[in-house]
Amino acid sequence: MQQPHQGRRITWPADKLIVSKTDLKGNITYANRTFMAVSDYKEPQLRNRPHNLIRHPDMPGGVFKLLWQTLQQGQEFFGFVKNSTANGDYYWVYANITPSFDLDGRKNGYFSVRRHAPEPAIAVIAPLYRRLRTLEQGLARREAAEASYQALCDYLQRQELDYPTWVNGLYRNNLEKADAC
Ligand SMILES: Cc1cc2nc3c(=O)[nH]c(=O)nc-3n(C[C@H](O)[C@H](O)[C@H](O)COP(=O)(O)O)c2cc1C
Repeated sequence: MQQPHQGRRITWPADKLIVSKTDLKGNITYANRTFMAVSDYKEPQLRNRPHNLIRHPDMPGGVFKLLWQTLQQGQEFFGFVKNSTANGDYYWVYANITPSFDLDGRKNGYFSVRRHAPEPAIAVIAPLYRRLRTLEQGLARREAAEASYQALCDYLQRQELDYPTWVNGLYRNNLEKADAC
């Protein structure tokens, strides 16, 4: 019997950043060339499409709940994200997402810059996300996100860490020499 396509892991040159911008609802308004090269989408396929276009099924909803909650509080979000390419492959990123403002100071969208995710960090994140996804099984979308969000909060509380300290530590403490400067 043919196995379902599990996807290959894609990577890209460490000195290139994957950049996108969205409107306030998370619809894509800009993607740079590296985004298109890595995700295997062409510009017309991305324009005005919701950013969940590249959501990978291994990503826990609780992480996105935290992402939007953080942005809505006017703060920037950092996180490890596994994304899907157009042909079913995947790539890991360390993402920074910030609100963006027009010259009058009105929030007009969001801006995301993604870097290589260090391997030792993925080795921590991948099993954690797997556990969070397991907790979501059988629940409706909102309840699933709430359950994995709570489990992530519990995980951090046991380590007596807040999310930004934990996630930025995981990135910085595991940076490979080539990525460090
Ligand atoms: C600027 C910006 C960049 C985003 N980048 C990603 C991304 O790379 N991958 C992803 O799955 N979601 C990304 N999101 C979050 C999506 O908008 C969405 O919340 C997430 O994919 C979960 O979608 P769903 O719950 O509708 O499936 C981004 C959101 C914003 C505002």
